[in-house]
Amino acid sequence: MTWRTRFLCGTLLTLAACGGSAAGGLSGFGAADTTITCASGLVWTQGTRESTLMNPGYACRSCHLGNNFNGQNPGNAREPQKAYFFMGTAYSTQKEADLCAADAVPSGAVVEILDTNDVVQLTLDINQAGNFYSNSTTAKVPVPFKARVRANGKVNAMAAAQTDGDCNTCHTAGGLNGAPGRITWPQ
Ligand code: HEC
Ligand code: HEC
Repeated sequence: MTWRTRFLCGTLLTLAACGGSAAGGLSGFGAADTTITCASGLVWTQGTRESTLMNPGYACRSCHLGNNFNGQNPGNAREPQKAYFFMGTAYSTQKEADLCAADAVPSGAVVEILDTNDVVQLTLDINQAGNFYSNSTTAKVPVPFKARVRANGKVNAMAAAQTDGDCNTCHTAGGLNGAPGRITWPQ
């Protein structure tokens, strides 16, 4: 591999052919995750403009509380009255990019919040962007809670109980805190 190729690989992080060059290449770089996609081909471009379809994939509640999770809120926006306890985005696949709208949300798809005895406590509609949210800034249900997505007559459940309802803080494209990536509905 020439020096020039290595430089380009370090710069253009999306080049799939560049894997494994870290040892001899630019210091300070790791292998890019080249599997990140956006199945709908549509990304939100309107910043914090008031909309229920806003910022799919971002950590909703963090920004509404005025926090800057992963650099997503550089302008210090806040909307604390709408910092609902349960907020997030569901997708057709796990590796969807930040701000990407969900692709073809099945009609009637919902997120169900359950108690630890698996009794459904709250049902949240998933809108056309994939976004869902509750209507209270407090949980109003027992915490820790469990969660699952219901669509196409099936459920896709999270095994573990959680205490944080800001789902996209773990369900990033790459997945944080052990999450497999985005929340997905059952196919
Ligand atoms: C970077 C900050 C930021 C992020 C991220 C963000 N929001 Fe917002 N959101 C705002 C602000 C600011 C407002 C108030 C906008 C206004 O009043 O002009 C708002 C308003 C809203 C509203 C009220 C819209 C209406 O029509 O009444 C909803 C619902 C909402 N956001 C949902 C979400 C969801 C769901 C997510 C995550 C998928 C999210 N937001 C992510 C900043 C953010
Ligand atoms: C603190 C991190 C964290 C938070 C917050 C979180 N999850 Fe998860 N989620 C995980 C982990 C880890 C897994 C994989 C292990 C498991 O299923 O318990 C997972 C798995 C899932 C799955 C099944 C896997 C899949 O492919 O979709 C669903 C559905 C899910 N979560 C929904 C949610 C919803 C809805 C919320 C918010 C109400 C949420 N999660 C909040 C960490 C989190």
